[in-house]
Order: sequence, then structure tokens, then C-alpha cells
Amino acid sequence: MKFFVDTAEIDAIAELNDLGMVDGVTTNPSLIKKSGRDILEVTKEICDLVSGPVSAEVVALDAEGMIAEGRKLAEIAENIAVKVPLTWDGLKACKTLTDEGKMVNVTLCFSANQALLAAKAGATFISPFIGRLDDLNSDGLDLIEDIRTIYDNYGFETQILAASIRTVNHMSDCAKIGADVATAPPAVFKKMVEHVLTDKGLAAFVEDIKAANISIL
Ligand code: G3P
Repeated sequence: MKFFVDTAEIDAIAELNDLGMVDGVTTNPSLIKKSGRDILEVTKEICDLVSGPVSAEVVALDAEGMIAEGRKLAEIAENIAVKVPLTWDGLKACKTLTDEGKMVNVTLCFSANQALLAAKAGATFISPFIGRLDDLNSDGLDLIEDIRTIYDNYGFETQILAASIRTVNHMSDCAKIGADVATAPPAVFKKMVEHVLTDKGLAAFVEDIKAANISIL
């Protein structure tokens, strides 16, 4: 499973990138707002930092506007994936932009039918929002599973990009189901390393190292 980082914070991306953890980056208008940066400027900086796909979202709501914005975003760098919402206009923009050879990430997906339409429109990535479904007492992981089945039934090449990931369990569950990509905030990646038995085991080793005066160098 590929790891994308869901943030527009350059320092956080750089830290994970140095560890080889970053296969791509996803942003959205809320994350750009949080960064306090200009969208074109910060997106360019992210593209210079990572070699994988960097999703940058359009802000227009009509297909024509999305296409114009998508073309402008795609000029930033070769690794831009234009992000469009899962609306009828978004699907039109997806078709036009993918026909032009651009990567397109169709976002705000909350149903298997929406994912089916995005694949038919040639999307490079489909972004089902797990956490927001969980918030409504629905099971976001069931959606990932349904989309996996549908795409595999017909050999669709659209990659399932699990989004709105909030917990470490979301990450391992997505990997078990076979999501192609999971995008998560930097804090989730950091939490993945934690285990109480690792801490406990290391503390015991440290005691024994001291007691036995073990040294290597
Ligand atoms: O990748 C989508 C993500 O940014 C949304 O996450 O936590 O706002 O539902 P969240």
C-alpha cells in the first residue's frame, strides 16, 4: 500500500519524506487554509520536495471552471494530480483532464456507485472518505471493501485512495482490504510506530545493558 501524506505543512512532509515514507501528498482547500499559504506557491514547494503524485484541488464548481483550474494546477509540475469533487461537473472535468493525460483524483466519495462513475470517467484515483462515514455511524471500511470488489470484478485501473483516515487501525485495515493508497495526517504515521510492549521491552533491555555494563563501540 502506498502512503500519501494528507497535509500542506512542508516541514511535516519533509520529515516523513526523509524516512522514505512518502509516496505522494494530498491537499484540499481546508488544508491549504490551515497552512496559511498561497495555494500555487505551497503546491509548487511540495512538488519540488516529493516525486510522487501531489493532489491539488480545484475550487470552481462548474466543469468549465474546474477544467481551466485543473490545467493551471497541472502546469505547476509533472507530478500534480488534479483533485475534483464527485459531482456530475467533477466527472466531466475528470474525463476531459484524463483525456489530456493529466492525473485526476476524484474526491468526496461516499458510495460505491460514485466510485463506479469515477472509474468510468477515467479517474487515476478515487478518494473514499472513511472517517466522515464513521462519524455518521456508517462503516467507512465497508465502502473501501465494496469498491475493491467492484474494481477487481471489472479490472478498473483507478486506484483506491483511502482518505479521511483518523486512526492507526484505519491504516492496517485499509492495507488488509487492499486499498492501493492510504492518505493520512502526519500524526497518524507517527502513532503507527507506538506499542506499549515495545516501550516496556526496551526499558527492560536498558536496565540489563546498565546492569551488565554492555558496550559495543
Ligand atoms: O483526505 C481527506 C481528508 O483531508 C479529510 O479528512 O479528517 O477532514 O475527514 P477529515
